[in-house]
Amino acid sequence: MLKILSLRSSIQRAASTRQLVYEGYGNPPEAIQLKSVNIAENPAAGEVLVKWIAAPVNPADLNQIQGVYPVKPTLPAVGGNEGFGKVISVGSNVTSVKEGDHVIPNKSGLGTWRELALHSESDVFQIDQNLPLEYASVFQVNPPTAYRMLKDFINLKKGDTVVQNGANSAVGKHVIQICRILGFKSVNVVRNRDNLDELVKELKNLGADDVITQEELYGRKKKFPGVKLALNCVGGRSSLFLASLLDHGGCMVTYGGMSKQPVDCPTGPLIFKDISLRGFWMSRWYDIQKTPEKRQDMYKELAEWMKSGEIVKQEFVNNRLDDHVKAIENAQNKHDKKQLFLLD
Ligand SMILES: NC(=O)c1ccc[n+]([C@@H]2O[C@H](COP(=O)([O-])OP(=O)(O)OC[C@H]3O[C@@H](n4cnc5c(N)ncnc54)[C@H](OP(=O)(O)O)[C@@H]3O)[C@@H](O)[C@H]2O)c1
Repeated sequence: MLKILSLRSSIQRAASTRQLVYEGYGNPPEAIQLKSVNIAENPAAGEVLVKWIAAPVNPADLNQIQGVYPVKPTLPAVGGNEGFGKVISVGSNVTSVKEGDHVIPNKSGLGTWRELALHSESDVFQIDQNLPLEYASVFQVNPPTAYRMLKDFINLKKGDTVVQNGANSAVGKHVIQICRILGFKSVNVVRNRDNLDELVKELKNLGADDVITQEELYGRKKKFPGVKLALNCVGGRSSLFLASLLDHGGCMVTYGGMSKQPVDCPTGPLIFKDISLRGFWMSRWYDIQKTPEKRQDMYKELAEWMKSGEIVKQEFVNNRLDDHVKAIENAQNKHDKKQLFLLD
């Protein structure tokens, strides 16, 4: 909703826009409020005016509102770390983006759950104009996380095996698909559920070689030879048994803590197989890039896989900003489909 409030002069125009704001940390459905604000419509030097189009609700967004995420924007803050928008206009001296470009945040904590905003040019990053909304709105976090974890820790060769827990998460589904594309085998651990057969079928259609439940993992009945890399987003007992599957010199990368338990690790494999434990945070990877080239190369490869359909479109539950309580509650309690705010 863009309403011109003041037309007194061509250089003093303001637009009314809505955004989801938290003024203090707390339980996300209660902490978030829908507010209207007026913003200047003409970007100053070095600024861009962005019309946000769609933004998901990720676990990190909820952790941030709870105050337990390492990135803590100044309060009051607009929620949402990810999403994509269209550049409406640019101020003087802006060189990296132009009117009409599609952009995503360049850093965590930008605040994407809003309709319209002025940002510094350096806070946004241009992406492929031809990516459909289902890809563009979730382009910055989960596909690159899967991509980097498969590329940066172990020199995987075709036929090598990767194991992961939380395999039905958005990151997990990207891991499965990128493994398939790059010729790696994937063994995927999920929690048991009523519709397990349906989930196994879905993950196998994406390219999973094996799908097992947490209980099967703990039962150690199945053996998986040659496991080089384990990807852990759960922690606790799950990470203990996941790391136990690693072969000599293998590595377990922890990137999430969904069980809210510390990462447990088996003593034997640490000593006798010289396995290693590492952590990964996509935001830090973005922060330490000195130039845009490596990021652009990764985005190009991911966008090609998406446009060719090798990485399938994610399914979402679409929400409007007015539905924020329901959307955020669902994101907390149901993990089958990601909640998405349509902002256009
Ligand atoms: N380090 C990074 O840079 C980075 C980047 C992206 C994401 N992440 C992290 O990766 C994880 C997945 O993110 P996402 O956006 O892909 O998630 P998502 O699509 O929202 O899915 C959440 C996943 O967590 C599982 N889960 C929830 N509670 C669990 C529990 N108590 N024990 C075991 N599994 C549980 C869910 O399984 P069920 O279906 O069984 O509930 C589901 O697989 C999150 O921890 C997120 O913070 C980290």
